[in-house]
Parts: sequence; C-alpha cells; structure tokens
Amino acid sequence: MKKVKKAIIPAAGLGTRFLPATKAMPKEMLPIVDRPTIEYIVEEAIASGIEDIIIVTGKGKRAIEDHFDRNFELEENLISKGKLDILEKINQSSKVEIHYIRQKEPKGLGHAVWCARNFIGDEPFAVLLGDDIVSADKPCTKQLIEQYNTTGSSVIGVQTVSDEETKRYGIIDPISSKGRCYEVSNFVEKPAQGTAPSNLAIMGRYVLTPEIFEFLETQETGAGGEIQLTDAIQKLNESQKVYAYDFDGVRYDVGEKLGFITTTIEFALQNEEIKADLLEYLEEIVKKSNVKS
Ligand code: G1P
Repeated sequence: MKKVKKAIIPAAGLGTRFLPATKAMPKEMLPIVDRPTIEYIVEEAIASGIEDIIIVTGKGKRAIEDHFDRNFELEENLISKGKLDILEKINQSSKVEIHYIRQKEPKGLGHAVWCARNFIGDEPFAVLLGDDIVSADKPCTKQLIEQYNTTGSSVIGVQTVSDEETKRYGIIDPISSKGRCYEVSNFVEKPAQGTAPSNLAIMGRYVLTPEIFEFLETQETGAGGEIQLTDAIQKLNESQKVYAYDFDGVRYDVGEKLGFITTTIEFALQNEEIKADLLEYLEEIVKKSNVKS
C-alpha cells in the first residue's frame, strides 16, 4: 500500500465573508494572534508526516507564497538584533516542500482539488481546508492517515453539529460504525434544512485515493452552482469504500466572523505573553456589561 506523503491545501477562495479586509489580502493570511491561519494548517500537515504540500491559489494570493518563502533581509536583521526566537518562528514551515498551482476560475472546491492532480499522480493524499483549524493531541490529519493505513480506503474527517448547522456542511448518511469509524451510504453537500441524513458533518479534512480524480474530471456543478468535492466523494463511494472518521480534537471555524473572533480569543488565552492581561481585560468587560444590564 502506498503511503500518504502529499497534501493539497485549497486556498483560492475569494474570502467574501471577510470583505473588505480580504479585498487586497488573502483570507488565509488573516492572523490568529501572530500567525496567519494557513500556517496552522501547514503545521498540522507537517506534524502528520506530510512531506510535500501543494497550495491551490488564485488571483491576489501572492502574499501566501511570500509568507512561506525565505526572507534573507529580515533574517539578517533579526540575527543582528539577537532575536533568534523570532527567527525560529518565521522559518517553521521550511521543514516541508511547498508547491503552488493556480486555479484559474473560481469553480468550487472539487475543481480546486482537481487542479492539483498532476502533482499528486497515482498516490493517496490528504486535503486540508483552511477554514477549519483543529487542535488535538494527535493531529487530525494523522488520525485519518492511520485510519487509511489500516483499511487502504479513503477516509473523511467528521464531527457532530447541531440540527440548525447541518445545512452549512457536507453531511454523511452512516450505515454502521466501529469505534469512531463509519461506513457511509451517502455523502450529501449542504442538505436543505430538515433533510440532513445525520448530524455528522465533514470538517475540512480528507484522505483520498487518487481515483477521486476520475470522478472530479467529469463532476457537474452541485450545491451553490460549484463543482463540489463531496459529490465526487459520493461517486467514489459507489465504486470503492469511503469511510468517515469522527476525529478527536477541537475544531475551530475560522471561515466566518464570529468563529474567527472566538478562535482568536481562545488562542490568545493560550499565549503566555498576553494571557494574563487579556483575561483581566475580558473580566473587566463582563463586569461592565453586568452593571449595564
Ligand atoms: C466545504 C465543503 C463541505 C465541508 C466544509 C467544512 O464547504 O464543501 O462539505 O463540510 O467545507 O468546513 P465550504 O465551507 O467551503 O462551503
């Protein structure tokens, strides 16, 4: 069985939910405390044993390439000032090979993944979406890879969401489960309110066999008029098994405003440098709002 060594990170989305902040800056570069969101994703891939990453970019995404490139002037400056701790931080991602390809038209997630087909070739691979950051003892992608290593089949990361939230996600229709692993009869992208087959939602982490490209090649548009990865996964599921895995870990939704802000607060509260002051500030705000109400 071939090993999972490559990962695709789709980053071509327009970031409309964060306009005007994302007019001239990729949404993947919006920072959570002091690191851009995409860096958390790249770090998960590295910690999961991925050796090669391809980021699917689009128009106006040059800042992502600059971020993961070396910056000798900045490095020299930090060395001369003895700021070696910061130097270490800015070169974290040099541990992995990062490649880029452009999605020329915004045709959806399925199309973005398909754009990376020549880079992936005939190997199983991981997909990590930038809107979901997962904090876990064992990295989420690693959990999926371990699952792949035991079955040799594609496996999709899922977690439970509320009834109201199902319409925002890809949802699975499970047949049976063994521990955290589900056999699935159907993968449905963004089911209409009240029609979801379960509350188990796809959470932006996938390990896929290369046969998915055969289905993406001819995949027609689906929900939202876009070529959906979930639809191609369902077709793959009809020709070979695709499992769902209820991964262990806390998932943060940084793809919408409130989730972005709560994630920032939670991560800031884990940061030794600002934790105490921030907590004091938050307590102050709560006290003030209690007085008002
Ligand atoms: C994408 C996928 C969806 C998945 C979601 C997870 O949707 O198409 O199946 O549940 O990511 O965040 P998007 O949020 O890009 O519309």
